[in-house]
Amino acid sequence: MNHTGKFISFEGIDGAGKSTHLAYVAEKLQQGLQARGVHVITTREPGGTPLGETLRQLLLQEKMHLETEALLMFAVRREHLAQVIEPALARGDWVISDRFTDATFAYQGGGRHLSLDKLDALEQWVHPHLQPDMTLLFDVPLEVARARLDATRELDKFEQEKTDFFLATRAEYLRRAAQFPERFRIIDSTQSIPAIRAELDLLVAELLQSGQDQQ
Ligand SMILES: Nc1ncnc2c1ncn2[C@@H]1O[C@H](COP(=O)(O)OP(=O)(O)OP(=O)(O)O)[C@@H](O)[C@H]1O
Ligand SMILES: [Mg+2]
Repeated sequence: MNHTGKFISFEGIDGAGKSTHLAYVAEKLQQGLQARGVHVITTREPGGTPLGETLRQLLLQEKMHLETEALLMFAVRREHLAQVIEPALARGDWVISDRFTDATFAYQGGGRHLSLDKLDALEQWVHPHLQPDMTLLFDVPLEVARARLDATRELDKFEQEKTDFFLATRAEYLRRAAQFPERFRIIDSTQSIPAIRAELDLLVAELLQSGQDQQ
């Protein structure tokens, strides 16, 4: 798909800090894009549409066959692309999504050991020509993420998984970051929130600059 807007995804294991930093980045980008008349849209997966949010409840709570889970993730994504992401990018708006396809590779592929070939095939089906322009991977050891999560709220189906699951999930994220170095930026999420924001400021500047170069 030819698009003029930019598509940015936030990735990382549960408790890595995605949601904490997404609002900050969105606000900074919106400030930078205001004068160009461009809007920044924030969204999330699984979810992002009314149907997707309904399916999210099932995905996060119900036990199901591994392939059912992967197929549903891509079904939610298909709807999300059709209803939200593709129209926004076509208008020239920018989209920031809290998780996208890398999360399915990390969780269903890494964490649950579903064949990466099957995930490749689903990705080819659902979005053959679209990848995020930039993916921010909030990388943190499991113990740090877990300690942060325990302090917040009741854990969902994925958050209740065992150590091995998250070790494999994090490893698959890092493997994909190494495979696609041009779009991934790895952020050391053990740092303080202000230190991470300082790094994010540089990435925001990079994004705004590359958005301008393309105009
Ligand atoms: N760098 C940090 N230092 C200390 N605490 C942090 C940091 N980043 C996030 N937190 C805290 O950790 C908790 C989890 O962060 P957050 O909800 O942003 O993670 P997440 O990646 O969105 O997780 P999930 O995948 O479960 O949605 C929050 O309470 C947040 O305030
Ligand atoms: Mg979150």
